[in-house]
Amino acid sequence: MNDPNGMVYFEGEYHLFYQHHPHGTTWGPMHWGHAISKDLVHWEHRPVALKPDDNGAIFSGSAVVDWEDTSGLFGGKPGLVIIFTHADTYPDSDRPRQRQSLAYSSDKGRTWTKYEGNPVLINEQITDFRDPKVFWHAANRKWVMVIAAADRIQIYHSTNLKDWNFESEFGASEGSHDGVWECPDLIELPVDGNTEQTKWLMIVSIGDNPDFTEGSRTQYFIGDFDGHTFVNDSYPETVLWLDHGRDNYAGVTWSDVNTSDNSKLFIGWMSNWKYANLTPTDSWRSAMTLPRVLRLKSGTAGIRLVQEPFAELNKLRLQEQSWNETTIIPNQNLFADLKLGSYELECEIDLANAEEVGFKLRKSDSEETVISYNVALQLLDVDRTKSGESGFHESFPCKHGVNFELQNGRLKLRIFVDHSSLEVFANDGELVITDQIFPDANSTDLELYVIGGEAKVISLALYPMMSINSEVTV
Ligand code: FRU
Repeated sequence: MNDPNGMVYFEGEYHLFYQHHPHGTTWGPMHWGHAISKDLVHWEHRPVALKPDDNGAIFSGSAVVDWEDTSGLFGGKPGLVIIFTHADTYPDSDRPRQRQSLAYSSDKGRTWTKYEGNPVLINEQITDFRDPKVFWHAANRKWVMVIAAADRIQIYHSTNLKDWNFESEFGASEGSHDGVWECPDLIELPVDGNTEQTKWLMIVSIGDNPDFTEGSRTQYFIGDFDGHTFVNDSYPETVLWLDHGRDNYAGVTWSDVNTSDNSKLFIGWMSNWKYANLTPTDSWRSAMTLPRVLRLKSGTAGIRLVQEPFAELNKLRLQEQSWNETTIIPNQNLFADLKLGSYELECEIDLANAEEVGFKLRKSDSEETVISYNVALQLLDVDRTKSGESGFHESFPCKHGVNFELQNGRLKLRIFVDHSSLEVFANDGELVITDQIFPDANSTDLELYVIGGEAKVISLALYPMMSINSEVTV
């Protein structure tokens, strides 16, 4: 699988579709896989929702609830509409052709019918023209589509989801252009929790480029949207990364979720086109990130995106072990007796006079993944060079990180470790690092280390996590 698609909430169910090749473990003719959840934690697999047809394979796209039956597809009742990219080639040519189409469901997403007027939006000038994300703009009473068009985003309008008019363009000379632009999203979010003061968040994934070792990654812009045009708050050359790890791509948000604080829910594909097709696994072939709550927070540098793991994930916590006000010194490991495979770790550490503090996890004599904070460099790093199997691509074994200042000399981390992944939320989600790792099943040691002085664990909680497939519910 790859990108998450068509995420929509309807009648108590979260739908997650995804780019899926059911007949192989590498990218191939794309279908839409489907899963449904009531809590965003436990998922029921559903049959493939969309299969390739005469118009081509089914690339990425979005889904909405057509509450007022603007499409006329539902006899006056609400129904679900998917807006996706049909991908094939121009007749008698190798040139890719990407056109936008619809599918709809009147039975809560159980069965899908492709619209007979497909495709509904064509642009023969632009070859890379895909991944429509649609939302209802209440003030203008119009559907808005943001769509990736080569190296920029185009915005279209519709009153019925079937007829689309070009409205504006964004981004030709803004942000990172290290790769082709893909999978956009545009959402309105309160700033600092104030629902009266909102800004718009534009998410844009950028594809792999052989010249950059990072591979595919996702940037964002904060700005204003008046229903017609998106205007970026930052200087055009500013690049804001949504995730500082290597494995969070093509992520977008759920449609039609009403949260009490108007936050939005996000999920990304936890892999990277640099090596996705070489992932050293068999039937399991990558996963989504944990569902995350998106908010905006103002700071000295401006308004920035904050991501937090979805609160319902706490259901998976098993017996907590905690440490408070504990001094750590070099060459001693608080966790020498522990063995941990999948777990959550939440901590606040005062670095006192230490030069570096960090965790070595999924560790054995020969393997370790290291999360470290270096005080002099003000650098939070993940080092997966010795994380386990990593020879499948030269870009995989790497150390990478992000600069940030400690708050009151304290490092605040929330870390989710799984059999093949690591999601690090620093400073209450101001910075996130998501990475895949492929350790041996027996690499389950955990070490908290300090270099150059002492540090103090103000609080640290460890929760082994139960499988989402486990029968046990809490
Ligand atoms: C992003 C992407 C999309 C496209 C899909 C095809 O990962 O390249 O732009 O629709 O994957 O699988």
